[in-house]
Amino acid sequence: MEMDVDEKIKLALQECGGIWCYNIDNKFKYLYPFTTENIAGYINQFDLKDKTFLTVGSSGDQVLNAILHNCKDISVIDLCPFAKEYFYLKKAAVEVFNRKDYLKFFCYSKYDKRYNNNNALCKYEYNKIREVLDTYDQEVAYFWNTLYNRYKGLKIRKRLFSFDETEVKFLSSLNEYLVSDIAYQNLRNKISNSCVNFEVDNLFYFNSDKTYDYINLSNVIDYCSFELFGKLINQLIDHLNVEGTLLIAYLYLVDGNSISNQLRMEKLKIILPDDVQYFNFRSVSGIRLGKFDSHDSVVTYKKVKKI
Ligand SMILES: C[S@@+](CC[C@H](N)C(=O)[O-])C[C@H]1O[C@@H](n2cnc3c(N)ncnc32)[C@H](O)[C@@H]1O
Repeated sequence: MEMDVDEKIKLALQECGGIWCYNIDNKFKYLYPFTTENIAGYINQFDLKDKTFLTVGSSGDQVLNAILHNCKDISVIDLCPFAKEYFYLKKAAVEVFNRKDYLKFFCYSKYDKRYNNNNALCKYEYNKIREVLDTYDQEVAYFWNTLYNRYKGLKIRKRLFSFDETEVKFLSSLNEYLVSDIAYQNLRNKISNSCVNFEVDNLFYFNSDKTYDYINLSNVIDYCSFELFGKLINQLIDHLNVEGTLLIAYLYLVDGNSISNQLRMEKLKIILPDDVQYFNFRSVSGIRLGKFDSHDSVVTYKKVKKI
């Protein structure tokens, strides 16, 4: 679905002003400020160096972590209309801010122990990165400048973003590029050479001739029927290069013994190819509980050469 910058600005201004006219499901209209997954828990399982990668993810964190892993060609398809704009904002911030100031600019929820960060996306800090933003893509710069001319950063942060936000103290455990100042500097060294393309679209209408070495479906499975999801898997396997990997699903709290969790696993097994793999790792037990003590899992499929 083509959407030009004026259309995006109109939607964003309406949303900041409390009106929303974009005809998509509520759960896709907001940007995720950061990933809600433990990307650091699984990314080392994949060899991304010089590979082609397709992903969803409006937070941009799947992309930033992939760049850190030397991925060369990244495509993002997401229903959220502002994923590209947000990625470039993060990219500019990585180039200009240190790790602490980066977190201070983007984090809102429970930033300082119990308190939210009322300086999130503040204009004073934005002004420090706007020139860099302009050098990447003038339409993206125009998008943010127009929003900032009408609304305070905090309003933009509250209105355009999901409240599904992991506490700042866990973000560095989930994202390799935030693990240390060295990792963050590594990302900065690599980010200017990254090649990232964005499309505002529904993955279920995926229609491209391109094939990829790695495809990440995040937890899209949580937003659709199992039947539809099964079809999507088969379709995407056709777009996977030989030796390529499809991350079929990110599963939260796999060590939870709830009946719904067991049922979900049973249903999932029916629709998946036989040769999938499960990989468990430690993660955050939920935004409310806020402990790094549960286990999440990724389900993956590797395409092998047929003899
Ligand atoms: C599955 S969601 C939840 C956040 C995710 N766990 C993360 O850490 O980024 C990730 C992204 O998938 C997008 N998404 C979900 N279903 C989609 C679909 N059918 N087509 C395109 N994007 C989709 C949402 O807009 C959201 O930005």
